[in-house]
Amino acid sequence: MSKVRVAVFGCGAIAQRRHIPEYAANENVELVAFADPVIARAEEMAAQYGGKAYADYEELLKNEKLDAVSVCTPNYLHAPMTIAAANAGLHVLVEKPMAATTEEGEQMIEAARKNNVFLMVGHNQRLMPPHVKAKEILDSGRLGKVLIFRTSFGHGGPEGWSVDGRDSWFFRKDEAIMGAMGDLGVHKSDFIRYLLNDEIVEVAGFIGTVHKEGTDVDDNATCIVRMKSGAVGTLMASWTHYRGGDNGTVLWCEHGVMKIGTVEGDEVIVELTNGTVETYKVGAMATNEKQVPSGVIDEFVDCIVTNTPPRISGEEGLRSLNVILGAFESQANGKVVKL
Ligand SMILES: NC(=O)c1ccc[n+]([C@@H]2O[C@H](COP(=O)([O-])OP(=O)(O)OC[C@H]3O[C@@H](n4cnc5c(N)ncnc54)[C@H](O)[C@@H]3O)[C@@H](O)[C@H]2O)c1
Repeated sequence: MSKVRVAVFGCGAIAQRRHIPEYAANENVELVAFADPVIARAEEMAAQYGGKAYADYEELLKNEKLDAVSVCTPNYLHAPMTIAAANAGLHVLVEKPMAATTEEGEQMIEAARKNNVFLMVGHNQRLMPPHVKAKEILDSGRLGKVLIFRTSFGHGGPEGWSVDGRDSWFFRKDEAIMGAMGDLGVHKSDFIRYLLNDEIVEVAGFIGTVHKEGTDVDDNATCIVRMKSGAVGTLMASWTHYRGGDNGTVLWCEHGVMKIGTVEGDEVIVELTNGTVETYKVGAMATNEKQVPSGVIDEFVDCIVTNTPPRISGEEGLRSLNVILGAFESQANGKVVKL
């Protein structure tokens, strides 16, 4: 079979650290082109991995023969770029949060459907080894029903991650739309829905800018969520964990507790009510400093090669986004929002 011809829109941190190297390592892929208005970034990727550099993604779409694109740009560009690529007949892997609004998300799904291409969202939390193990344990039924939980994601903020540091788009509302909630909260709304195989039906959000200066987006959020099953939990997102970053989830269940990513080294701990304690060292959770392959890119390529619709679909990405948008609505009107 001929190789899957891929272009990458946006050559910043996530493209450089995950998308581009993971495509390059996949034997079914040919990296064809890179787009970034900071053309030096696209040129650097082209020099390192082969392919052509463009400042303008529309120019790239016009000139190159492609099968798929990755959209790794500031959040406000996810929808227009995804729709343009789908209309050009290309499969799309878009970073999270998939869109700025529900309507945009629906338009992206519709664009992929009508052009008969795949739309996948980069919700890599689902593929992290401790999370894969946790899902396997929960699905086995040994812990019984999940009753109450907490899930959180916090680090020191995008100034320590984005290619533009403190001057990053992450801090500007017109480009980011959301702050810590769009960056980290949506990872956890997606993960908890996936892990519990359940939907969030109610959300109450306390969201604000607690500490970062010179930004009009949120740096912290604490939400209470209720699942369709009746389980209740908290979902936290923070850009002010200057020490003690957190990507942990704890589920208290009928027959015990499962702690995921709470203790370094023991990535999943199961403590049963009968006194048994099980620890699983299944591989690390990725952090900003310690990157590990996301698996998202290989899964996207496999979908194309085997003509199998992606599990982390546009519809899934939209449900996870809607939780976050509901939390903002709750913050704005002081009420619990039903989803
Ligand atoms: N899945 C994950 O774990 C994960 C992690 C980090 C970031 N992300 C997401 O990836 C996306 C990109 O984030 P990042 O961390 O790489 O940001 P970044 O600031 O490091 O890089 C963004 C890049 O996009 C470029 N850009 C801006 N406008 C563009 C345009 N019109 N065309 C092409 N490129 C353009 C910028 O010049 C910059 O190089 C965001 O949506 C973010 O939420 C996902």
